[in-house]
Amino acid sequence: MTEKRKSIHGSWSGRLAFVLAATGSAVGLGNIWKFPYIAGENGGGAFVLVYLACIAVIGIPIMMAEVMLGRRGRQSPINTMRSLAKEAGANPAWRWLGWAGVLAGFLILSYYSVIAGWALAYVFRAAAGTFTGATAEGIASIFEQLTGDPERLLAWHTLFMVMTMIVVARGVRSGLEQAVRFLVPALFVLLILLDGYALASGAFDEGLAFLFTPDFSKISANGVLIAMGHAFFTLSLGMGAIMVYGSYLPERASIARTSITIAFLDTLVALMAGMAIFPIVFVNGLEPGAGPGLIFQTLPIAFGHMPGGALFGTLFFVLLVFAAWTSAISLIEPAVAWLVENRGMTRIYASVYAGIATWAFGLLTVLSFNTWADFKPLYFIEIFEHYTIFDLLDYLTANIMLPLGGLFIALFSVWVMRRNDSVQELDMGDSSAYGLWYVLVRYVTPIAVLLVFLNVTGLIELSGLSGQTE
Ligand code: TRP
Repeated sequence: MTEKRKSIHGSWSGRLAFVLAATGSAVGLGNIWKFPYIAGENGGGAFVLVYLACIAVIGIPIMMAEVMLGRRGRQSPINTMRSLAKEAGANPAWRWLGWAGVLAGFLILSYYSVIAGWALAYVFRAAAGTFTGATAEGIASIFEQLTGDPERLLAWHTLFMVMTMIVVARGVRSGLEQAVRFLVPALFVLLILLDGYALASGAFDEGLAFLFTPDFSKISANGVLIAMGHAFFTLSLGMGAIMVYGSYLPERASIARTSITIAFLDTLVALMAGMAIFPIVFVNGLEPGAGPGLIFQTLPIAFGHMPGGALFGTLFFVLLVFAAWTSAISLIEPAVAWLVENRGMTRIYASVYAGIATWAFGLLTVLSFNTWADFKPLYFIEIFEHYTIFDLLDYLTANIMLPLGGLFIALFSVWVMRRNDSVQELDMGDSSAYGLWYVLVRYVTPIAVLLVFLNVTGLIELSGLSGQTE
């Protein structure tokens, strides 16, 4: 048996801290900002159903695999993959999986921070009472003024990156653990409140029907890929974020139970956000497919008309910022851990270094919403015809890099790593629960990911799903 490794970066205080940190990573802009608008763009119910299936069948097993690899390797994903490959007598090239993850995290954070900047800006708009009594058009123009101005976007993006790097620089336990302890409960309370408002809006049924009545003629093959990509994105899978968090996990904690809890909470937040937003969309005659601006153009209407709306609006955007914040740190942690391990940097120096690079790359996203809004780099490919640089970054990372990363994590866990090692690490014994995980990760996940990819690229046609592109 190999000797247990120890992380040089410290560890969580216990299982609860890990659950909170991983939930903090999972619950973010993906749940509240992205899920509603991509569900809206891809026809609603059928999309939601595919997304839920992907969470259950692909997401949870891969999350278990990632936590397992991290806890066994106890280092940044790059070094973890290298050590575990060596231990299994496999090719050291597996460390490239860690590098691909670092790159994906860097690309995602570069745009994530810009969107989180919108949320920051909205904290101040809400607090100033800007939304009070405003019409849907008024709210839309507030949004356009913000995104149309590169200097403002840059300022908020900068502020958010600085906030992120401060927490990362402080390390695993200080600050972060404390922050997530009140964030998750508070977010739930506010979402319940918003759902209450939506319930009273008179269009709650219409919202529910949109989200939960599957109409498979409304979803394209590309929509299926987007749903699967989002399952990875929302659970923070496929790039090593959960792996690096797993590397700080104490030995005695059930990986299966923990992963299911995290996935459940994450899904709950997404569905609650959807149920709050779509009734407001329908009551105000807005377009569910409005795109990335959706929540910024709908929720302020609710805040503008409910009693105490300025207060709740402010709280809501504060929480959205917090949710984004606890996610952002996990996007950069693998890179920072590696810089500390292999370049001998202090955490502070490593954070500054990684943060500046990410910040600079974020300028591409800042400009995608204004100066370069008409620049569609891949206009000659049908599905990317209308995609800006931001849209392409999002598509490339969420729908291609994360599922591929997840695919290789799955392959490594059950084809490369010794079965005994995963039995021991997952600590479920050689039970039927373990057997189910094994089959899902060994066959179901890889096949599902490959089928969706091949279908989108047109190499094969899954009946009933192909044909329509919009
Ligand atoms: N899951 C987060 C969200 O839904 C985003 C995120 C954090 C993420 N870490 C990640 C996405 C790692 C992919 C990979 O907002």
